[in-house]
Amino acid sequence: MADLSGRLALVTGASGKLGPVWIGALAGAGARVIAVDLHAGEVEGAKGIEVADVMDRDALLALRERIGAPDVLVNNAGIDQPPSGDARSLAIEDVPFDDFRRVLDVNVAGTFLVTQVFGSAMRDAGRGSIVNIGSLYATIAPDPGMYDHLDLDPPFLKPPAYGASKAGVVSLTRYFARLWGPHGVRVNALSPGGVLGGQDPEFLRKFTARTPLRRLAEGGDLTGPLLFLTSDESSYVTGHELRVDGGFTA
Ligand SMILES: NC(=O)c1ccc[n+]([C@@H]2O[C@H](COP(=O)([O-])OP(=O)(O)OC[C@H]3O[C@@H](n4cnc5c(N)ncnc54)[C@H](O)[C@@H]3O)[C@@H](O)[C@H]2O)c1
Repeated sequence: MADLSGRLALVTGASGKLGPVWIGALAGAGARVIAVDLHAGEVEGAKGIEVADVMDRDALLALRERIGAPDVLVNNAGIDQPPSGDARSLAIEDVPFDDFRRVLDVNVAGTFLVTQVFGSAMRDAGRGSIVNIGSLYATIAPDPGMYDHLDLDPPFLKPPAYGASKAGVVSLTRYFARLWGPHGVRVNALSPGGVLGGQDPEFLRKFTARTPLRRLAEGGDLTGPLLFLTSDESSYVTGHELRVDGGFTA
């Protein structure tokens, strides 16, 4: 059993769909969890939410000043498309350049900034585990056919920057694994596949048919892999992308 007793964990993107899954797992294994998101709120397993934008270096430095070096860092904050964007019904030639850049900014540059600020403190402390949340789309391109049943014209497109950003996250994972391995900090990526929640039945049917394990992930499928990577159970694992996708990318 993964034991994180006495460890301090920091999780970004705490109040979305997966943040509470990671936080509940870490807290359940005994960690004290610092939850970070754009807005204040509550999440089970943490004492409130620390308000900080992963793009805001000053806010991150102020938080580091208060909490010190975490033992575990989960870079989970990410966007699929800008909150104000209407890329859902845009032809590829009309996707705003700023929307493309915004996804790269939050997902790649944000992961870099949080790692730079907190990971360097972990390096100085000489220990720790960083887990970057990737995606199946770091490895494969989204299939437009998954969405062609939606009544949208032009048809729905996953944001083209999303997979590129997640491939960037996996690349940063390898970068920091090499850089900080000698300092006792392990850096791995956890790339979920489709996670159940709110998808329409036809999408679920198509996605399930393409997934070797014939279902989407539920929270409980993700917690074991996270605890493995964040705990001493994976003490000789670094620079690895653990795909938790039911075999979708196999
Ligand atoms: N849900 C899935 O099916 C799935 C699959 C594969 C990968 N992922 C990845 O898992 C992570 C979490 O996904 P999710 O489904 O919970 O997403 P979500 O949109 O439900 O939650 C993301 C959270 O990140 C926060 N956030 C966004 N920008 C931020 C910023 N600049 N600073 C701080 N916080 C910010 C949001 O406020 C939100 O609470 C993401 O990196 C996502 O790409 C999700």
